[in-house]
Amino acid sequence: MKMHWSDSAAGFDRAAADALAQALQARDEPFVALPTGSTPLGLYAEVARRVATGAALPGRAHYINLDEYVGLGPQHALSYVGYLQRHFLGPAGIARERVHLLRGDARDLDAECRAADAALARWGGLDLALLGLGENGHIAFNEPGSDWNAATHVVALDERTRAAQRRQAGAGAAIPAHGITLGLATLRAARSVVLLVRGAAKGAALAALLRGRADPQWPVTSLIGHPRLTVIAEAALRPAGAAAFTPRR
Ligand code: GLP
Repeated sequence: MKMHWSDSAAGFDRAAADALAQALQARDEPFVALPTGSTPLGLYAEVARRVATGAALPGRAHYINLDEYVGLGPQHALSYVGYLQRHFLGPAGIARERVHLLRGDARDLDAECRAADAALARWGGLDLALLGLGENGHIAFNEPGSDWNAATHVVALDERTRAAQRRQAGAGAAIPAHGITLGLATLRAARSVVLLVRGAAKGAALAALLRGRADPQWPVTSLIGHPRLTVIAEAALRPAGAAAFTPRR
């Protein structure tokens, strides 16, 4: 595991954009899973800046969203697909045929899950899983207690996840009770994983990962031992004594 502590918001976004750029160079047509939420907004703005100057070439890759709310179409203000179109796919000029969208408004959610798994198989699995982190340790929508061997599936959202989303969306926002998500087996099988950790509320989840002990109640710990895991985190989250801390990998 490579740990990158970032002292500034701009440094965090640059480190994340560099990690994405590195994955894009690793193969001719890499396949990347993309996160949503507040954490990667600066990264996507940084990529858009780099695209404008010709310094980034995200158009060579294929993409999929990590997750989506069940019942929401891309036009809904809370939709993750809509978010990615606004913040990344549109500004970066990604061609429609390079994107597989996992839709929460699909009529047959089981078929939607299998279609995502088929796209993953067709494009050779993920080269990069770019992940945010939930306060309760979730990655994508894999909540505490999730099956570590799962492929794409529908989940009941944890109340802590819904509360965090409600805080962001504004009181009164109707946060769906279910999500559709790439599973932990798919994320763990990615050739590289970059985990972005930002915000004081993530301290306990990050600490669980850094303890280095696999715990199903902290889904992020399913990444322990991944051969190419990079964690980019705000320096403010560094646990006391972490200067001397050497992650196992
Ligand atoms: C949601 C998403 C996750 C995301 C997490 C963190 O629950 N399903 O994929 O990583 O929120 O969001 P934020 O970056 O806003 O803290």
